[in-house]
Amino acid sequence: MKRFAHVIGTGASVPARVLTNSDLEKMVDTEDEWIVSRTGIKRRHIASDNEASSDMATKAALNALESANVKAEQVDLIILGTVTPDRPLPSTACLVQNNIGAVNAAVMDIVAACSGFVYGLALAKAMIESEQADTILVIGAETLSKIVNWKDRNTCVLFGDGAGAAVVRVSGKPGGILGTYMRSNGSLWNLLTVPAGGSRMPIDFNSMQNGARYIQMAGPDVYKNAVMAMGEAASEVLSRTGVSSKEIALMIPHQANIRIIESTANRIKIPPEKVYVNIHEYGNTSAASIPIALDEAMRGGRIKPGDKVLMVAFGGGFTWGSAIVEF
Ligand code: UT7
Repeated sequence: MKRFAHVIGTGASVPARVLTNSDLEKMVDTEDEWIVSRTGIKRRHIASDNEASSDMATKAALNALESANVKAEQVDLIILGTVTPDRPLPSTACLVQNNIGAVNAAVMDIVAACSGFVYGLALAKAMIESEQADTILVIGAETLSKIVNWKDRNTCVLFGDGAGAAVVRVSGKPGGILGTYMRSNGSLWNLLTVPAGGSRMPIDFNSMQNGARYIQMAGPDVYKNAVMAMGEAASEVLSRTGVSSKEIALMIPHQANIRIIESTANRIKIPPEKVYVNIHEYGNTSAASIPIALDEAMRGGRIKPGDKVLMVAFGGGFTWGSAIVEF
């Protein structure tokens, strides 16, 4: 039997606490008007002190399993994209495995920043087609609020927390994940980085004082690269799959900046009504942004059986990628 990798369920979870632009006006020298016009963000959800990536990932995974009508014991692989693991060791995927009781699964974290979920879909497709797994949970989960410098207006207005998940399962029926594309460019790593906290610069008194344990981003440079790379990733996956942009029912882009989203859609001639946007509510949740949007779109009736959905992402590393999924 030829094996196809179908997305059969989705889930998401975001923290209850909401931080609005007017809350931020009281914290740093910024304005609601600047944030909305430059980014499209109005609110973001922020984890509480005792909430970590695995907590949100667990809830998203359970929601996804429920919507797919799959039991945790049936999962044989968990792929979790995050740059904000609960701790350096073990992987956050291990914690999720334990929390949901996926006792028969192999698990791994992948660090592809905002591209984590589309990278995860690419791996899931390959693992299913090569008969190495039948039922896979692909999760994106981030608690960026814990690595953001709340005194740096260049970054703190941009990010939010949350998790999203999808169940990908083997089927003999053609369709599912039709094609994927993954790229990276490590020569530009220093444009978006958290300098401290690894083996190069362990957390110490200095990094606690000088901000090296927080996200540092050269915003306009990242912006330019994101526009180019997301356009390329979207075009490339269309040509690899032979799907025309007219056939795309919905584009779900990584939600980093409304202007990047609009320029990506323009480049491949997808009209605004076919572009899913929820950046106003969540900000940039890195690896979680596409699966949160996917889950909202599924539950909101924006995706119907037979629809082809294009997902496209860009993030630190740099990494970028895309996927087309037929539902
Ligand atoms: O998720 C992965 C990838 N991440 C991205 O894709 C993010 C990419 N970058 C961006 O989205 C945009 O570059 C930003 C939203 C970060 C910045 O927008 P921009 O239009 O590129 O603004 P800018 O950095 O050129 O800053 C314009 C001005 C500066 O002031 P001066 O130097 O012109 O006087 C900034 O200091 O806006 C100032 N500024 C702010 N003003 C009010 C920067 N942050 C703020 C702020 N509030 N929060």
